Amino acid sequence: MSDTCKKVYITTPIYYVNDVPHIGHAYTTIIADTLARYSRLVGYDVFFLTGTDEHGQKIEQAAKARGKSPKAYADEISARFKDLWDEFEISYDKFIRTTDEDHMRGVQKAFEVMYANGDIYKDVYRGNYCVSCETFFTETQLVDNEFCPECGRSTSVVEEESYFFRLSKYQDKLLAWYEANPESILPKSKRNEVINFVKNGLEDLSITRTSFDWGVKLPASVNDPRHVMYVWLDALMNYVTALGYGNDEAKMDFWPAKIHLIGKDILRFHAIYWPAFLMSLGLELPQHIGAHGWWTRNGEKMSKSKGNVVNPKEIADAYGLENFRYFMLREVPFGQDGDFSQRALIDRINSDLGNDLGNLLNRIIGMSGKYFNYAVKSADVTRYHAKEWEEASAIFGRVEPYLYEVQTNRYLEELWKSLRIANKAIDTAMPWAKMKEGREDEAMATIALVANILAKVAVLLHPFMPKTTEKIAGALGFVIDTESYRRLIGKGETLEDIVIQKIPPLFPRIEAPLVATPEPKKEEKKESPKTKETPKKEKEEGVGLITIDQFFQTSLKIGTVVSAEEVPKSKKLLKLQVDLGEERPRQIIAGIKEWYAPDSLVGTQVCVVANLKPAKLMGLLSEGMLLAAKDDEGLSLMRPEHPRKAGSAVG
Ligand code: MSP
Repeated sequence: MSDTCKKVYITTPIYYVNDVPHIGHAYTTIIADTLARYSRLVGYDVFFLTGTDEHGQKIEQAAKARGKSPKAYADEISARFKDLWDEFEISYDKFIRTTDEDHMRGVQKAFEVMYANGDIYKDVYRGNYCVSCETFFTETQLVDNEFCPECGRSTSVVEEESYFFRLSKYQDKLLAWYEANPESILPKSKRNEVINFVKNGLEDLSITRTSFDWGVKLPASVNDPRHVMYVWLDALMNYVTALGYGNDEAKMDFWPAKIHLIGKDILRFHAIYWPAFLMSLGLELPQHIGAHGWWTRNGEKMSKSKGNVVNPKEIADAYGLENFRYFMLREVPFGQDGDFSQRALIDRINSDLGNDLGNLLNRIIGMSGKYFNYAVKSADVTRYHAKEWEEASAIFGRVEPYLYEVQTNRYLEELWKSLRIANKAIDTAMPWAKMKEGREDEAMATIALVANILAKVAVLLHPFMPKTTEKIAGALGFVIDTESYRRLIGKGETLEDIVIQKIPPLFPRIEAPLVATPEPKKEEKKESPKTKETPKKEKEEGVGLITIDQFFQTSLKIGTVVSAEEVPKSKKLLKLQVDLGEERPRQIIAGIKEWYAPDSLVGTQVCVVANLKPAKLMGLLSEGMLLAAKDDEGLSLMRPEHPRKAGSAVG
């Protein structure tokens, strides 16, 4: 981001109050929070907005079903969102509600401006109406050209008086905007979808309703009290009313937004309607609209009726809020769907955070204490580790764009490359051997290299894991703030004389899932014209195909057998200790006694399923499973063709 853009405005969608917060809402909000925290760290003036979307027929109905007024109901659910974001330490600057008076005034003002410039006209809306849901559906939404996509009942063509926005007028202007701003829609693959949709022709948009009351009234100047505004006009306007549009416009200098973060299901509203509304209002267009994918469970969309919704609070409470943040931002490439599983979360915590980051810190705490009474100087880093220093510095210099492109997974992957450089530097330089040879300066330089890499990772990881990284910085004797960002990242400086502090391990190993999540209800799938047919071939062969993401939920690793012995009284089992490059070897109870003598296994390598829930066999804990191939003639363990480092990933 250039220095000229000092004001950074970041938004989440405003969440409907007809549902309580779930993991999908938490995901959008955590991404936005991370970008906001990063921008603040760099020193930009940030305004970060979130809130709730409270009008519309669905909310009116949800309130009615609970015997409450829409406002009382909206108050209740809106508070649930706000409370959760507060518990999650989301650093929003404003929490907007579409029932806020000043927001509603701002929406009315926008209507007046659009009406005055001829972009709004009154006509008759003809549509397919579902009486039961009291909702119009477009032809493409209908099932079999007739049935309601929500309740499956028959719809009928109904006419209703409505005000329309001249969306068609903006078709060419929108196309010109996408063309001139290749990064307006992120990820870039989504931009083509939008362009194709617009090229197919835009119809004018019905922006008022007379069939329900729970909405913003038209401005008094239009004098048509039967109409309320269509929820999307009301909702999208929140991005500018939050800055004072139509009221006290003091904060409008934050406009245009740096990025609107949204889910892919609401891309059309943000990438087509919203820019058209803004053009009509004579306001600038946002810099980016970033659309993320869905979180699913076992490949299925989460929904209350399927009973497979993941409660973000439960997960964060059990695994640690910041570990959960790290997982969400690391696990899924932006724009793609991600399947939530506790096993994948545990693997990220144990492997990326525990092994790669936490152990690295422990290693230098231990060595600096033992050899130098915790006092480390950075003076000789470039003398003895010029190559590593250069490589790591290059990484720190190139990660920022990934963040503003919302490629948080790539950003984290890059940071982790620097941790690998640091870990490898210790393994190759072997400071303990250098100490024995009296080459203290060299040993000190290696520890200082690692301390400095860790310091920079802590700064750049701060927006993702604020408290954890503050602890790392504390152990390295510095504070993370804009000043240290400028020194360590901006200017590439090293820490001056470091006095390392001992701290407790940051990422205790997690052995088994900590939350009992409900398994999806095994309900009969309703036959509906929308249900996808199982592909014929799959049916015939009885093969359940899995996606690549599902495959990667299994963590396969190479391990070295450290010891092996028979399990007393068992004909089949051997007890192995297998080194997976972790703090301690894993105990694995394997049914291979018939084919392998214990001694023949020691020192050999095996392939281990490393994220299997631990189980007890003959009363002994087994923390993994060996892969083997078996046929009529016997069983062979799967091994790498050439020896590989213990803990190497297979896949
Ligand atoms: N109120 C509108 C947004 C108006 S913004 C001017 C809305 N609200 S929502 O509560 O239904 O959804 C808010 C966001 O949550 C959307 O971006 C949506 O994509 C996201 N998610 C809801 N379920 C999700 C998942 N299962 N996974 C990821 N995100 C999903 O739409």
